[in-house]
Amino acid sequence: MTVPVIPSLPIIGHSLPFQRNALKFTSEMQKKYGDVFQISLLNEKFIALLTPEATKDIFLDKDDLFSSKEGWAVSLGPTFENGLMLRDFDDHKYHRTLLQDSFRHDAIHGYLEIIQPIINQWVENLKKAGSFNLYQSVKQLMFDISLSLFFLDVKQDESEKLNKLFMDSIASATSAIRWPLPFTKMKKGLKAREFLLDYFESKAGLINDDSKKTLFAELVNTNKGDAGLTNFEIAEHMIFLLLAAHDTTTITLTNSIYSLSQNVDFRNDLIKEANEVNHSDISSLKNGLVGESIFKEAMRYYPPVPFSIRYVVRDTEIQSYPLKAGTYVTISPLLLHHDDRYWDNPDAFDPYRFIDPNYHNKAYFPFAGGAHTCLGKFFASYIYKNVIYKFVQNIDNFEIDESLEIRPTPIPHPVKDVLVSA
Ligand code: HEM
Repeated sequence: MTVPVIPSLPIIGHSLPFQRNALKFTSEMQKKYGDVFQISLLNEKFIALLTPEATKDIFLDKDDLFSSKEGWAVSLGPTFENGLMLRDFDDHKYHRTLLQDSFRHDAIHGYLEIIQPIINQWVENLKKAGSFNLYQSVKQLMFDISLSLFFLDVKQDESEKLNKLFMDSIASATSAIRWPLPFTKMKKGLKAREFLLDYFESKAGLINDDSKKTLFAELVNTNKGDAGLTNFEIAEHMIFLLLAAHDTTTITLTNSIYSLSQNVDFRNDLIKEANEVNHSDISSLKNGLVGESIFKEAMRYYPPVPFSIRYVVRDTEIQSYPLKAGTYVTISPLLLHHDDRYWDNPDAFDPYRFIDPNYHNKAYFPFAGGAHTCLGKFFASYIYKNVIYKFVQNIDNFEIDESLEIRPTPIPHPVKDVLVSA
């Protein structure tokens, strides 16, 4: 079958309607052209494949046909070069195995102990403030949490500098100009990368067996010796981890807290569970089914990674559509999660749809799948539950009078932040 090509303007292609409202634009195209079609974004052509079956085949990639490295390089390269998602096949497998060790149970238990006081301090500050901007406040918390998992005792001015450099590196990922021309976001992002690499590499050299067990220290200590990663490679992974961990959890918490302001029954169920669960015990956190339901629904409604990109390395076909080597393909949890062929009332935010832990939906891909399945997916849920439980326990009576609209691209973010009155 031939892939329909959607007509577009030269160079900018469909970038404007896509940037304005990716869900609306792509679902309109889907209605008109079917589940598979070609769009143009930022001077590249992408074949969108919008069925659960094609999504699963591409994520699972049984025959090593789809490159995550070349696909994601379109937006994350070169600033996040050599991060785990920007590696392929055997090389990726090798690095993933070495990173995985730092996500084992006992290590995560230690990380949860590290982040508790930071969350406690956050809720204390919110209580004192009385009102606060939701997204901004959660974003700062998630940055502070990430930083604490990398280094302990970062001084305030150093933390602010790192935050700024990190924001510069993310901004380069969303920049339309992909070359480091003077005064561009790309130039700034690459400069930030250079500084962060030096910073992480020099700090890695100071870590020893007695260092406090942060994620960074675990990575350095488990990679000592000839078979492990060099400190420079670890620095490259750390920059990517900061990206992977930060905005994803921020947007999930933001839209969850907003939704709790609209749903008092659910909020009461969550408060009850928050008082029963032991927040630093992994088994107890896993049993927190009310927290799990809202986590899942928040990621269904606004998937933190709304589109994934892959690059076809050898000619193949999916669902009778030919895919030539050298083509970019995109698959979309955002579209699948809002497709009424697979979900009842998909535009309603309803955490109870996930309350049965055995509920499974073939169109649900918040953490991707296959070799690149999110490495932090369990850890993310424990961080999430720690924050949301402590939030409802301490700020049980809050209101948000504005509505929250989240724009999914380039990375999900609110069109306008909302004010929470506690
Ligand atoms: C709600 C939170 C999160 C969501 C929804 C999420 C989602 C994802 C998705 C969809 C991918 C794969 C994209 C693709 O294959 O195209 C991914 C990869 C990854 N994530 Fe997450 N993520 C979250 C939090 C985290 C956290 C907290 C960490 C680490 C602390 C993390 C670490 C990673 C890493 C290292 C990869 C690359 C895996 C690989 O390429 O093998 N993520 N994440």
